[in-house]
Amino acid sequence: MNEKKYILGQYFTREEIVRKVIDLILEFKKYDKNIRILEPSFGTGNFIKVLREKGFKNIEGCEIDPAFTNTPQDFFLYPLDKKFDLIVGNPPFTKYNVKESYFYPKKYFLSPLHPGNYLPRDLLKRNKIRMENAFILKSLKHLKDENSAIGFVLPISFFIEGKNLETKKMIIKKLRTIIVYQNDKKWVDEPIPCGFGIFTNIEEYRDKVILIYENEEKMKVVLNISKILTDELIPKSYLYKKHNNLDGESLSKFLSDRPVKYKKSYIKNNISGSNILERTKIPDEENVKDYYLAVVRVGNASVGRAGLINIKKDILNDMFYVFAFKEEYNNNKEIKEKICKILNENQNYFKNITFRVGSKSIKKRDILNFKINLK
Ligand SMILES: C[S@@+](CC[C@H](N)C(=O)[O-])C[C@H]1O[C@@H](n2cnc3c(N)ncnc32)[C@H](O)[C@@H]1O
Repeated sequence: MNEKKYILGQYFTREEIVRKVIDLILEFKKYDKNIRILEPSFGTGNFIKVLREKGFKNIEGCEIDPAFTNTPQDFFLYPLDKKFDLIVGNPPFTKYNVKESYFYPKKYFLSPLHPGNYLPRDLLKRNKIRMENAFILKSLKHLKDENSAIGFVLPISFFIEGKNLETKKMIIKKLRTIIVYQNDKKWVDEPIPCGFGIFTNIEEYRDKVILIYENEEKMKVVLNISKILTDELIPKSYLYKKHNNLDGESLSKFLSDRPVKYKKSYIKNNISGSNILERTKIPDEENVKDYYLAVVRVGNASVGRAGLINIKKDILNDMFYVFAFKEEYNNNKEIKEKICKILNENQNYFKNITFRVGSKSIKKRDILNFKINLK
């Protein structure tokens, strides 16, 4: 493993993507070619190159690694009196298992630029925070005025609900238009699903979040900005759910969300993702009440598969969520089998909403919120 690469988050954006996201910024707002632009972590300089090609003249940059520049500059020591109309690039991301890839506020307490100047108090007290959050928070302080913008490549997991809330709150204090762009291309050489976040103020989209997902076609949805704090705003899965959610009633009407105790073992299990599809009926001689719903929660091929398991006899591996049926449906063989059947007919739905991190995995609430029509 190349340590430096992971410590400094050196995952360079492919040029085709750089062009795409810069065009996106320019599509939403017209900029004079003389605006002041900052690329806070320019690496190989691919953002600066494309911006110059577009005619922008006034570009400054920081890069900490002397391998890429004769004048290395730590962005966190870059003076805050420098203000910009546009701050654009791909900041380093923290890799959760590389401890040096986090931002440690204390490290800068004795430096000429105390992090208290750009971190909210809650974060200042933390031992460590994610590097991309520190980059966003400091960039907010470099903005010239309310017309300025930040456009960053970010791990798409940044937009998962409840994550990075302090940073999201600081963003929307100043900038009331958010655009999140995602497409089906590979953005960097690491297997990190990325997106592009634009944080700015656009009169027409004041207090809005715009989610855009592009594959063969471009899909877009405009939402209230408050959703950034409450919802998962990943364009691909959000738009997929919006276009493909069936009509009907949420499964939470039929299923309980209380944790279920069931027999689990990797070695002795008789049920796994590969044979769960053989368990979609309740045998006639069995007690219907003993049958619970098991849905595969991970795995590229089997995520979303459903079966009915006997809670007293069956042993599962750990690939499942197991749900009890609500009391009023617990003795209803027909409903239990029908729910199982509908889930299996819609396995593609579950495959398509699993873009949060690299591997395919769904959450319990993805199942509970899934709508079905029993008629
Ligand atoms: C994800 S790469 C992005 C480079 C470029 N923007 C791109 O998209 O190709 C992040 C860059 O940030 C640099 N970097 C890491 N910490 C930094 C810091 N504190 N100040 C400035 N640059 C930093 C790394 O060396 C790396 O080149």
